[in-house]
Amino acid sequence: MKILVTGGAGFIASHVSEGYLKAGHSVAIVDDLSTGKRENIPSSARFYDCDVTDLTAIEQIITQERPEIINHHAAQMDVRRSVREPLFDARVNILGGLGLVDLAVKYKVCKFLYASTGGASYGQVETVPVNESHPTAPICHYGVSKITLERYLFLYKHLYGLNYTVMRYPNVYGPRQNPYGEAGVVAIFALQMLRGDQPTIFGDGSKTRDYVFIDDIVAANVVMLDKGEGETLNLGWGEAVSDYRIFEEVRAASGYSGDPKYAPVRPGEVEHIALDASKARAVAGWTPKVSLHEGIGHTVKFIGQSNACAANP
Ligand SMILES: NC(=O)c1ccc[n+]([C@@H]2O[C@H](COP(=O)([O-])OP(=O)(O)OC[C@H]3O[C@@H](n4cnc5c(N)ncnc54)[C@H](O)[C@@H]3O)[C@@H](O)[C@H]2O)c1
Repeated sequence: MKILVTGGAGFIASHVSEGYLKAGHSVAIVDDLSTGKRENIPSSARFYDCDVTDLTAIEQIITQERPEIINHHAAQMDVRRSVREPLFDARVNILGGLGLVDLAVKYKVCKFLYASTGGASYGQVETVPVNESHPTAPICHYGVSKITLERYLFLYKHLYGLNYTVMRYPNVYGPRQNPYGEAGVVAIFALQMLRGDQPTIFGDGSKTRDYVFIDDIVAANVVMLDKGEGETLNLGWGEAVSDYRIFEEVRAASGYSGDPKYAPVRPGEVEHIALDASKARAVAGWTPKVSLHEGIGHTVKFIGQSNACAANP
């Protein structure tokens, strides 16, 4: 199939693009390289250096590529930036996404796959894990902008019959995640520990998240090419893993021997979240496979071997 992947120079969608190429699909990537890197782009994918909010350029790419699938990963995904610059966040995540959805209908794209967030959609929850019927009540602008596009997809299916699947991601981790970013605690801790720097835990270490390794997320993107029509699906283990446990796992994998330092929790952060993915298992047969221990081992090894340890680029 011909697949247009947005955000394919970034952490997750570069792996997804590789997964599609490996499965024999043809891949074109759109990315403005704002946080993504050119070296992440698979050499056999066609690349367009383009902002998703530039609809004229995006329409030209779609007329040239005529994709059967649009897989949308490009996003402003910095929670703190979303709080500081809500209009920018909305422009990229809502208007950029909506423009693509609109073009998907105009050019009769067979399916729109959307990388949404479970971690930032549900807000402060009483108990974990949550399933998709739990109300969404985001406590950061990024969460609002990401689920807004979900609503448009629902609407476009209702009005125009657009086929889509929303994947609500947990905390995804693995090789190529930016260790200098504001999120991505596994990569951040790994780099700090490998350099011998003392990592900071925001809060007292008891905040929890659901962590899924990148290979399992790639598998979901492959299987959802023809499964989960019109569905919104959580991806996750359903397991709430504390910040301190992540610290301990990365410490064991990196050989670091120190303790963390602690700082106040940052605005927009939920206390606890874990995602019940029973529906993804039922409709698409998807379950995660790579354990936290194994996935953290791969990630620490990758960061140790990359030049990330040498200097902040
Ligand atoms: N990493 C996670 O744990 C996680 C969790 C939930 C959801 N997600 C979603 O997954 C997607 C990918 O996240 P990631 O972790 O790979 O982040 P990333 O920053 O590595 O990737 C995002 C990519 O989008 C590109 N991009 C940003 N704005 C763009 C624009 N206006 N036009 C074109 N390209 C643009 C960036 O250059 C980058 O390559 C995002 O949509 C994010 O909301 C990620």
